[in-house]
Amino acid sequence: MTYFMDDLMAFIWISILLTSVYCLTEEQEDLAAKVSELSVTISKKDPKRVELIWDNSDNITTPTSVMQTPYSPVMDMDYIKKVCCHFSNCNLNHGGEDTAAKNFSCIVYNIYFMNCTWTVGKAAPNHVQYYLYSQNAKKKQESECTNYIKDSQKRHVGCHFDELDRFGGKAYFLVTGSSKRIKIKNFCSEKISLFSIEKYNAPSNITVNCSKSNCLIQWQKPKTRIEIGDTEFRYMLCIQKLGSQYTNDTEIELPGSTKNEYVFTNFDMEKNYILKIRARHRRASWGYWSKPIEFDHLGRI
Ligand SMILES: *[C@@H]1O[C@H](CO)[C@@H](O)[C@H](O)[C@H]1NC(C)=O
Ligand SMILES: *[C@@H]1O[C@H](CO)[C@@H](O)[C@H](O)[C@H]1NC(C)=O
Ligand SMILES: *[C@@H]1O[C@H](CO)[C@@H](O)[C@H](O)[C@H]1NC(C)=O
Ligand SMILES: *[C@@H]1O[C@H](CO)[C@@H](O)[C@H](O)[C@H]1NC(C)=O
Ligand SMILES: *[C@@H]1O[C@H](CO)[C@@H](O)[C@H](O)[C@H]1NC(C)=O
Ligand SMILES: *[C@@H]1O[C@H](CO)[C@@H](O)[C@H](O)[C@H]1NC(C)=O
Repeated sequence: MTYFMDDLMAFIWISILLTSVYCLTEEQEDLAAKVSELSVTISKKDPKRVELIWDNSDNITTPTSVMQTPYSPVMDMDYIKKVCCHFSNCNLNHGGEDTAAKNFSCIVYNIYFMNCTWTVGKAAPNHVQYYLYSQNAKKKQESECTNYIKDSQKRHVGCHFDELDRFGGKAYFLVTGSSKRIKIKNFCSEKISLFSIEKYNAPSNITVNCSKSNCLIQWQKPKTRIEIGDTEFRYMLCIQKLGSQYTNDTEIELPGSTKNEYVFTNFDMEKNYILKIRARHRRASWGYWSKPIEFDHLGRI
């Protein structure tokens, strides 16, 4: 009861202090409201100085104290991000490090879709269940995954999205966990730009036209989720000579242009070749290879 009163007093104090004296952002106010065991002391030496103390009994990432002065409010913004306190179900009272979802990653593929996947934490019990929440670029429109990818034990280990417009190009993710036995730590992603995780489909309309000594290879940029300028693309061509003792792939990387073409000069008229092309945004990783195309001196086979 005494503890409860103390907490309540602390909470009232902090609410008054944080909202009236200091200029806190909405995010900081939200965090302050979520800190359950918070104590406030006013420095005896300097009455304008306030010390905030968090419960740190789990010895994890909770900051033990944050100093506040009327002139320089310093709530730890990195900490807010780290525990995903921009989500409504952020959890300051979390479990051990290895209970959280691990190896979280997302890809945008086939123009309109996105999959996010993770693995079960090493210290998580077998019956653990994870839940994924996402927010858009503005840290608004929070929603839970509606299409989980499950492992053989029916644990959620991924989420499939088939509507990406609501993200506005950037997304935040939170994976919470539940278990009857132990507390599960949240996993909180950094801000993820959908641009940087997009895996493009293969370039389209690939043509090969060979003359005596060389071949003109042409293609068109892949269809993408949002309109992207020709020069933002990068292409990789893989040309493999068939029927040799060994196969020595030639890989050529080229910047995109309005006219996507390459003149292949080391052409041996006696041989057949296999060509594949893939694309990426200049700031992202490679997309899918095109289906292999076989050609000889007469062109595509
Ligand atoms: C937290 O750390 C302190 C000092 O390192 C230790 O004495 C205490 O037992 C730890 N508490 C927990 C819950 O691990
Ligand atoms: C992490 O995930 C990536 C992509 O899904 C996968 O390629 C990689 O093997 C995974 N690593 C571990 C340690 O599970
Ligand atoms: C994404 O997840 C869906 C649903 O599990 C699966 O069918 C699809 O193959 C996955 N795609 C990629 C690129 O991982
Ligand atoms: C392929 O080229 C044809 C003719 O130039 C064009 O009509 C068609 O739209 C192109 N297809 C794609 C997917 O770019
Ligand atoms: C191949 O190139 C030759 C010479 O440039 C041209 O005459 C011919 O029309 C081209 N063929 C195709 C299918 O583009
Ligand atoms: C394979 O090709 C590369 C460059 O295209 C060349 O430097 C290398 O010597 C070739 N290897 C063989 C075994 O011919």
